[in-house]
Amino acid sequence: MARTALVTGGSRGIGAAISKALKDAGYQVAATYAGNDEAAAKFTEETGIKTYKWNAADYAASKEGIAKVEAEVGPIDVVVANAGITRDAPFHKMTPEQWKEVVDTNLTGVFNTVHPCWPGMRERGFGRVVVISSINGQKGQFGQVNYAATKAGDLGIVKSLAQEGAAKGITANAICPGYIATDMVMAVPEKVREAIIGQIPTGRLGEPEEIARCVVFLASDDAGFINGSTITANGGQFFV
Ligand code: CAA
Repeated sequence: MARTALVTGGSRGIGAAISKALKDAGYQVAATYAGNDEAAAKFTEETGIKTYKWNAADYAASKEGIAKVEAEVGPIDVVVANAGITRDAPFHKMTPEQWKEVVDTNLTGVFNTVHPCWPGMRERGFGRVVVISSINGQKGQFGQVNYAATKAGDLGIVKSLAQEGAAKGITANAICPGYIATDMVMAVPEKVREAIIGQIPTGRLGEPEEIARCVVFLASDDAGFINGSTITANGGQFFV
């Protein structure tokens, strides 16, 4: 039987490319979204991938939603914690609300997404956890104290889960995308964005599909010995 994959924030941007690539690779896919009903409906119509609405920042909603996906689609074998937001501002202008919103979604959201899937993975002796972190969790970024903190924290989650899951056949890995052509990056002021592209040796933004292919690999049986690692996909902009 086909394995089941859950992708949070899976109806737009990098998440949509991941959902589609996993479906093309033979998985049964469920994609979550937080608010954009129209984009989700369009995504389902175009791809046939079921979408579920809940806020990754809300543990109770995540737990309930995941139970629903497991009942309707199947036990989750692959969980891709991709949902993320930005609230960029220089530190001296950053508000506690901007800090909290980003932490709740990008860091606590990973806990909320993986934690309800974890007992089933342990029982079945197989699981793949893939967390979408960011180049800015590795290098920091002007205007992103909140976001960079969460994305660095995501790497700590993965390295710890890798050690806890290994004996149960579960791997946990992170991908650090660089600047990818999505709405999130297009929201960066044009002048700033052009300056950033100038720092990418490849000379262009990445494509969402370039990240999705990394996820498909990490989810596969072939990647069983890769655990606790970080795949950097940033066009050469930053080396760890
Ligand atoms: N380095 C050094 N100085 C910088 C700077 C930088 N990167 N960016 C801005 N500054 C300076 C400005 O020149 C300005 O200096 P002066 O006051 O001397 O003129 C000062 O900082 C303040 O700038 P602003 O008043 O314009 O600040 P602002 O309140 O408008 O906020 C910002 C600016 C929102 C931080 C804006 O610079 C920005 O959006 N930066 C991009 C941040 C970014 O890369 N976000 C990534 C989003 S995509 C993503 O997150 C996906 C992923 O994983 C990669």
